Amino acid sequence: MKRKKYKLKKKNILLLGLFILVLVGVLLYKPCINVFRLVSIDYSFEQSIDIYKSGYYEDVIERGYSKIIPNIISDESYDNSKIDLYYAVDYFDYDGFVSNVNKWLELGYTTKEINYINKKDDLSLRNYVSSKYVQNINRWIQYDFFKTDKFDRYLKFFDGDYKQTIINVNIGLDKPFYEDVNIIKDYSVSVLANKYNKLDSSFSPKDLTLLDNCSTGNHYLAKEAKEAYDKMCFASLKDGMKLSVTSSYRSYQDQEKIYNNYLNLYGKSYVEKYVATPGFSEHQTGLALDVKSMNSNIFGSSMEYKWMVNNSYKYGFILRYTENKKDITGYNSEAWHFRYVGVEAAKYIYENNITYDEYYVMFLDK
Ligand code: DAL
Ligand code: ZN
Repeated sequence: MKRKKYKLKKKNILLLGLFILVLVGVLLYKPCINVFRLVSIDYSFEQSIDIYKSGYYEDVIERGYSKIIPNIISDESYDNSKIDLYYAVDYFDYDGFVSNVNKWLELGYTTKEINYINKKDDLSLRNYVSSKYVQNINRWIQYDFFKTDKFDRYLKFFDGDYKQTIINVNIGLDKPFYEDVNIIKDYSVSVLANKYNKLDSSFSPKDLTLLDNCSTGNHYLAKEAKEAYDKMCFASLKDGMKLSVTSSYRSYQDQEKIYNNYLNLYGKSYVEKYVATPGFSEHQTGLALDVKSMNSNIFGSSMEYKWMVNNSYKYGFILRYTENKKDITGYNSEAWHFRYVGVEAAKYIYENNITYDEYYVMFLDK
């Protein structure tokens, strides 16, 4: 009798054990299958558990694998009503990513635009677009020289040409000449001196070198520009040209004298189209020179002018002030004024028919 009781007890325990096993099996069956299904479509085991735990398993499995989902599904800002849009968004790993995406979707940005914005990896841009919807955002931000801190100015100055608007505003052209002037601190052959960028009155290049070819009198340029001028001079002589120099490096004080002379003769508005205000002249950089022809008094109609227009870029010089760019340079055409910028820049400027001001803001103004 005692033995029977014991047997019964053992049987009950076995039954209970079996029951628990079946129960656990039933309870775990579905999660296991679901996690397994997620793993089978390329989510890792941990990601699959996260997705399963989020409660959005059905939506995820229905849409298939996505790189972004495991990264955002546990985020406090995750909004499952946007799941289809999320699937079209590229994931970027920074704080507030999901909340930004939500905000931008709500403002009206497309998923494609959101990807462009995030790709720029620019916190100030992310903040800017969080404050308002900007139409065609990718047409603005596609340029390396786009600057978020100038975005309001771009939008205000926009004339239908995205690229040129950015370039013009970066130069400063949405403001009058001489407004918001930057004092030049770093001098190199790339220096930009124009109506928004001024040299200190005490500045002069350290390596001024006397021109001794295709030049008479005391004309100086910075060494690199002088050596380039020599090369250009020899090439021009070979082609039968007779180039010479009327002006090259000018100190601040030299410029002041010239400016004041013209000012007394012609008045301010006229002078400013031809003569730089002291401090604003390229001549003070030791990188600019005014050339002349020994064959003709009118340089602009001489064969030397034609030769310079077509060949000077090979030696690193550019024709700096042309008729069709006077709105950008602020100077009327000066057929004689050439600026040394180095061969690479000169070639680009020549081939793309742009000014140095534009080149500078596109490639050098970081
Ligand atoms: N003539 C040019 C603009 C200068 O004075 O620098
Ligand atoms: Zn000049």
